[in-house]
Amino acid sequence: MEVIRVEGGHRLEGEVRVAGAKNSALKLMAATILAPGPNLLTNVPDISDVHIMGKVLKRLGARIEVQGKHELLIDTTDVDKWETPYELVVKMRASTAVMGPLITRFGRAIVAMPGGCQIGERKIDMHILGLEALGVKFDYDHGNIHATTPDGLTGTDVTLEFASVGATENLMMAAVCAKGTTTIDNAAREPEIVDLANMLNEMGAKVRGAGSPLIQIEGVEKLHPVEHTVVGDRIEAGSFIAMGGMTGDTIRVCGFKPRNLGLVIRKFQQIGLELKEDSDGVVVSRPGELHPVDIQTLPFPGFPTDMQPQVTAMLTLANGSSIVTENVFENRFVFCGEMLRMGADITIEGHHAIIHGVKGLSGAPVAAPDLRAGAALVMSGLVADGYTTVSNIHYIDRGYEDFVQKLTGLGAHVERLDLPEDDD
Ligand code: EPZ
Repeated sequence: MEVIRVEGGHRLEGEVRVAGAKNSALKLMAATILAPGPNLLTNVPDISDVHIMGKVLKRLGARIEVQGKHELLIDTTDVDKWETPYELVVKMRASTAVMGPLITRFGRAIVAMPGGCQIGERKIDMHILGLEALGVKFDYDHGNIHATTPDGLTGTDVTLEFASVGATENLMMAAVCAKGTTTIDNAAREPEIVDLANMLNEMGAKVRGAGSPLIQIEGVEKLHPVEHTVVGDRIEAGSFIAMGGMTGDTIRVCGFKPRNLGLVIRKFQQIGLELKEDSDGVVVSRPGELHPVDIQTLPFPGFPTDMQPQVTAMLTLANGSSIVTENVFENRFVFCGEMLRMGADITIEGHHAIIHGVKGLSGAPVAAPDLRAGAALVMSGLVADGYTTVSNIHYIDRGYEDFVQKLTGLGAHVERLDLPEDDD
């Protein structure tokens, strides 16, 4: 069983450059289906979710050339299938991002129903409702969604019940070549949505308002292949900034736009971190103690749910009590049970985590329930007394490129170990 083992108490110093954003790259890859021909994506993170999306595209008929660690040439000229393989969608629910592009290109799609995961049920009812408004008909059988467009795709006004990132993306990609104009109200505003809209417009689409709650898409005849650079990963950056905050050391985190972490930076400053921003990153330090704050996770520009485990871990060492409220996923506090094993004092009341600061954490064997919690557990190990071994690290590999190498590059004593499986 592969684990990450951390020895607490070692100082961090130096600089870490984050990769391209996982939650943009996966959708940009799917969007290449819309533009038959050679699309070049740069600053693509070298993570297992990208490898899975590559497999999905190849199954559909795309040709992918890895040109260096972070460059993918995705030629979708010969994409001639519209069914995504069940075994890949089950592995990575973000594969559902190919649904909109396939419906636009072929007028139909067969996509496996994505399972839930540790953090929640992860339904796609809002994707379905929005696509039905555009003229898509859905049937379901044997775990597959069958989408068809008997009368083609016609632009219309859609209002999302919740500012769903995935639903906004699928709707944008289904609307780009629909007849007429589509508006998406209560659209997700995440920087990754803006990155996708920018690439669609570079392909010849007419998407206006991305980053605001109202996106307008005027349908065009066709799109052409492009070169596009993936936006820096603000969540990977926030994770490393939280590590500097946790240990109290001064490090620089670069390769992302600080404005894409707006509220996180302000909340971190309230907690007691000093953050000096520049155009490509921030320098984090912490002159004093960690202070308690209350956090509400919300769609962007609210505090991102993908930073909730990291800030919760940091608050376990604050000089007071904090309340973290998770409004986006219904089950994203599972990792708190693991934090208790390290001596944290957290009580879960429904969507609220009540955190009473403790003097210190102690190293222990813990299990990552998802990728962000996995990063938070490793981060906690940096300051815990003794050794912390984090298992289920395949979750971390899904979204953090060269995680251990980046940590050791900052001076942390962290290593990947292959422990013998327990004989039951
Ligand atoms: C994206 O997931 C990200 N994943 C998530 O990051 C991120 O936490 C989330 O957006 C919110 O920012 C990718 O981009 C690959 P949603 P997504 O649709 O699109 C419910 C990470 O750690 N919902 O905004 O699935 C849903 O169940 C991952 O990198 C419906 O009920 O998020 C959830 O509770 C974790 N019906 C909430 O809305 C729908 O049709 C937010 O989901 C769609 C969503």
